[in-house]
Amino acid sequence: AAQFAVFGHPISHSLSPQIHQAFARQFGIELEYRAVDAAPADFVAVVQRFFAAGGRGANVTLPHKAAAYALAAQRSTAATRAGSANVLTPLADGRLAAHNTDGDGLVRDLTERHNVDLRGHTALLLGAGGAAHGVAWNLLDAGVETLTIVSRTAETADALADAIGEPARAHTRYWSDLADIGSYDMIINATSAGVLGVSLQLPPSLVGARALCYDLSYGAAASSFLSWATAAGARYAFDGLGMLVETAADAFELWHGQRPDTEPVYQALRRQSA
Ligand code: ATR
Repeated sequence: AAQFAVFGHPISHSLSPQIHQAFARQFGIELEYRAVDAAPADFVAVVQRFFAAGGRGANVTLPHKAAAYALAAQRSTAATRAGSANVLTPLADGRLAAHNTDGDGLVRDLTERHNVDLRGHTALLLGAGGAAHGVAWNLLDAGVETLTIVSRTAETADALADAIGEPARAHTRYWSDLADIGSYDMIINATSAGVLGVSLQLPPSLVGARALCYDLSYGAAASSFLSWATAAGARYAFDGLGMLVETAADAFELWHGQRPDTEPVYQALRRQSA
């Protein structure tokens, strides 16, 4: 069977093998999909070995997305603007193509699964690292009116806003001013605090009436932010499980040329995590 894998560190919790196998069953495709733990120092060698041995596609997750982007000879527009990649696919000549499907996955989860119209929303993006870079442009493309980027380290927020280059729509504020910057229609947690087991101390005043709060992570990593959002009166508090399934569907389509039905796979994972 064709070989696929996800590379990360740590990786044991990854749902990607299960998601890709569920998609493959929809089409009667046989594939092998492994989760590979690769320490940062080994990532390039491990990935190159995988493709040299005939690997047909790789997903890449934390902390390797920037390294995956650097490794590729060809890069999609979304990967280029984010400077990171979550999908690597071998080209005919053996070199690698990089894609970043995170932002598309987030927007599809919001607009198609949760039926949210993002147009006109004032959005607050918490964090300015790899995850934030992966979704910022897509939120603007989806019609978000303003994107306010706030990062504990002001320089990274400024760098992201500069890279976007639309000062009227995308701008930064200081983390230390969060209590004074008013409320937003939409708050996206793109920090790694939850993954690191840390709770953000956020003022409830950020949450506007009928606000939508979204954590790009899922499971235990998302619970602190989502509890805060609910307590602060958010209308919606979503984790990133749907985004994960959507990003996987994009990778699956790149590799197999067929578009899987994400909803039953999402529902099964949701039941499993309940
Ligand atoms: P990822 O790929 O998950 O985005 P990253 O590139 O390391 O990981 O970015 C993590 C983001 O979460 C950064 O914006 C980081 O802020 P700093 O640059 O100041 O570290 C943010 N972050 C992590 N822990 C945080 C915390 N406890 N409070 C606020 N921001 C935090």
